[in-house]
Amino acid sequence: MKKILLSLLVITLAVSLSIMGIACKEEAVEEATDADAAAEETVDDATEEVTEEVVVTAEDGGSCMDCHNDSTLIVSKNVQWGASLHGSGMTFERNGASCAVCHTSEGFTERMTAGTFEIAEDVENPSPINCRTCHDIHDTYTSADWALTSTEPVTIELTGDVYDLGNSNLCVNCHQPRTSYEIPIAGAGDVEITSTRFGPHHGPQSSMIAGVGGYGEEYNGSNVHYDAVDNGCITCHMGDAYGKQAGGHTMNVTYEYHGSTNENLAVCTSCHEDIESFDRNGVQTEIEELLAEVHELLVEQGLIDGESGSGITGTFTSEQVGALWNFKTIEEDRSVGVHNPKFAKFLLETALDALE
Ligand code: HEC
Ligand code: HEC
Ligand code: HEC
Ligand code: HEC
Ligand code: HEC
Ligand code: HEC
Repeated sequence: MKKILLSLLVITLAVSLSIMGIACKEEAVEEATDADAAAEETVDDATEEVTEEVVVTAEDGGSCMDCHNDSTLIVSKNVQWGASLHGSGMTFERNGASCAVCHTSEGFTERMTAGTFEIAEDVENPSPINCRTCHDIHDTYTSADWALTSTEPVTIELTGDVYDLGNSNLCVNCHQPRTSYEIPIAGAGDVEITSTRFGPHHGPQSSMIAGVGGYGEEYNGSNVHYDAVDNGCITCHMGDAYGKQAGGHTMNVTYEYHGSTNENLAVCTSCHEDIESFDRNGVQTEIEELLAEVHELLVEQGLIDGESGSGITGTFTSEQVGALWNFKTIEEDRSVGVHNPKFAKFLLETALDALE
């Protein structure tokens, strides 16, 4: 408790000092301590880190007011983010080292700083993905700190392919398949499934968009949305915000309106002027039908529990397991074909062939 109070005092000091625009913080701290004997102890006890950070600020001519001013810039983003699953989701509790790299702010930051995919230890006191996860907040203490944590091209860990699509590279560090299971190989004989969670995990959106990471013959078609959409994910998921329901930092593409779910088609119209639904040219209907067919066969052949939808452990042929892999990929991608219409169809048709 005492520590918290002390740090609070120091933060308050830091804020008021920088607002006063005093050039050299060390001097300022001395002046302040002269004036107030009680504060002297506070400053002495404060971790050097805090004091040093403030000094750096002053030297760089940083301005807190670039961001902390009377605009609603932070508030509006905060509201949108708060309503997003990044802000409201519960999975930052997954703080074990192998999950924390994508599920906690601390794990992700550590990974980005180290330049590795893995981190050594579990994250204590994890926090959800927040402003600091994606932006360089409080680095130079100027508006340059809105810069994204990373926009470097990303190697998709599972396949080794490189995804490079503007600022959406940031997203792909996390929205990629996990590496817990290998992609089945056709004709490889029997495969034992030891986990009901077998599959690419929940975020294979990037491998879908890149057209990689599927079972079967290598896909050698292109993706209209990889070729045409310069900022990838961001173009479609972060369009103009609709309140706190869609676009902006909510990252949602759908929203509720008078009791029904609406599609935020505004993000599509720059390219598809007359689009009336995500189901453009019936692409989603077709994918849904194929998905249902594959599902039925997987249930029949004992790879999926028809009631719970969960996987079933056991030994199967590599073709059956490959079909399951493709099914799970499309299911977990959750765009029902939009991310990469042709590849989605290719994966499900490959799965059907493998099961028939
Ligand atoms: C690039 C914009 C930016 C600049 C410049 C900036 N801040 Fe912040 N600051 C933020 C954001 C974003 C948050 C988090 C807001 C939230 O989560 O509600 C924040 C939060 C804070 C908080 C709340 C406690 C915390 O850490 O979350 C304090 C105190 C603070 N800033 C002080 C400062 C001071 C002092 C400076 C200048 C030395 C400064 N900030 C410069 C963007 C900025
Ligand atoms: C640090 C890892 C990380 C980064 C970076 C990241 N995400 Fe996420 N994202 C997640 C996790 C984890 C969840 C699920 C959170 C939960 O359920 O608690 C999620 C959820 C989402 C959802 C909501 C899915 C749903 O079920 O409604 C969308 C949409 C999304 N992210 C898009 C993006 C976009 C676009 C970007 C880049 C601008 C991005 N994400 C960057 C990890 C990340
Ligand atoms: C490579 C990054 C990555 C790793 C590693 C990772 N996850 Fe995730 N996980 C995600 C993303 C991204 C989402 C959100 C995808 C979405 O909403 O479509 C997610 C979603 C989830 C969800 C929510 C699923 C749902 O249907 O609501 C759970 C639970 C989860 N992950 C558990 C774990 C656990 C447990 C681990 C570690 C054993 C782990 N994850 C490791 C990226 C990752
Ligand atoms: C999941 C990652 C993610 C999180 C979390 C996130 N942002 Fe962002 N933010 C982005 C991306 C990506 C962009 C750039 C969008 C674009 O390219 O149009 C952005 C853009 C911005 C911008 C516009 C910057 C500029 O130079 O125009 C502001 C301001 C901003 N974010 C504030 C915040 C605040 C405040 C928070 C926390 C409440 C936050 N962001 C959380 C990813 C994120
Ligand atoms: C061409 C536009 C487009 C691009 C590019 C795009 N998405 Fe999507 N995404 C969609 C649409 C549309 C849906 C929802 C389809 C539906 O609900 O019928 C969706 C669904 C999702 C979902 C499921 C949850 C939700 O919000 O419905 C996640 C998570 C997601 N996308 C993440 C990403 C990530 C990460 C990227 C970049 C690697 C990305 N998307 C790129 C359009 C796009
Ligand atoms: C930056 C441009 C761009 C954006 C934004 C974009 N698309 Fe596309 N999309 C294309 C191009 C180019 C094609 C291929 C040519 C065509 O079908 O018109 C395409 C094709 C498609 C197809 C395949 C159609 C078919 O008949 O095979 C679907 C489905 C689709 N887009 C849906 C969407 C949806 C839904 C959104 C918004 C969430 C969206 N697109 C946003 C450029 C874009």
